Amino acid sequence: MYLLPMPRVDLLALLPQQGVIAEIGVWRGDFSREIFKKNKPSKFHLIDPWRFIDRDDYRDDPTNSQNKEHEENYQLVKRAFRRHEKKGRAVLHRELSTEAAPQFPDNYFDWIYLDGMHTYEAVKEDLRAFAPKLKNDGLILGHDYTNQKKVQELQFGVVDAVNEFVAEEGYDFFALTTEDYPTYVLVKDAHAENAKSLINKLVRNVRPIIEIRDYPERPFQHKQFEYVDHRNRTKVRLIPSF
Ligand SMILES: C[S@@+](CC[C@H](N)C(=O)[O-])C[C@H]1O[C@@H](n2cnc3c(N)ncnc32)[C@H](O)[C@@H]1O
Repeated sequence: MYLLPMPRVDLLALLPQQGVIAEIGVWRGDFSREIFKKNKPSKFHLIDPWRFIDRDDYRDDPTNSQNKEHEENYQLVKRAFRRHEKKGRAVLHRELSTEAAPQFPDNYFDWIYLDGMHTYEAVKEDLRAFAPKLKNDGLILGHDYTNQKKVQELQFGVVDAVNEFVAEEGYDFFALTTEDYPTYVLVKDAHAENAKSLINKLVRNVRPIIEIRDYPERPFQHKQFEYVDHRNRTKVRLIPSF
């Protein structure tokens, strides 16, 4: 696995261009707009129920907005993508990922970005539902690969769900950004065209790249270090530990 000291928005420019893409979990569409600008998809599917989900393990997630705010978010995204919808390059799906997934043909997406519900079960369900919908050399990306204290309190299970999926389905854990809320990249075959093209672009554009061999055989921990800054304030830094 390649560890990439870059933000997820910069990674976008290195991903396949003009492809068929899905973002699962859209919220206000901030990242959707970045995807559209940087990747110029031929077809972009934006999937989100844009409604409050009343579940014990999800109720406190700050992006599980109340219905009024979700309606405003939906209208915001609708306005931002109206032009692209008219041209057939964007489709808004106001439904759960598991309702949307069966509507797509197999071998359809060039890459997907998973950022919906972050519980262990939900991430596992999304990975299983969307994996067959990817082209053979397709990429699975997703947000919030972290087990820092803050997200444990919110019952996030992204790290465990992704690691299990990789082990069970034989995927390659290809890359991870080093942000506080990292983005992961999985590929079915590290020797396939899209993966080879991505590593070429990473080598040309990103410095340094660190390889963690045999990941995820050893557990990942997003370590929290407290330190005192030059103004005597206590601060926290997250350090990825393998
Ligand atoms: C973290 S936000 C997405 C943020 C967005 N990707 C970004 O980076 O700007 C999570 C979103 O996932 C949505 N969501 C929750 N459960 C979902 C599901 N099962 N399928 C699709 N979206 C879901 C929520 O409604 C919320 O808008």
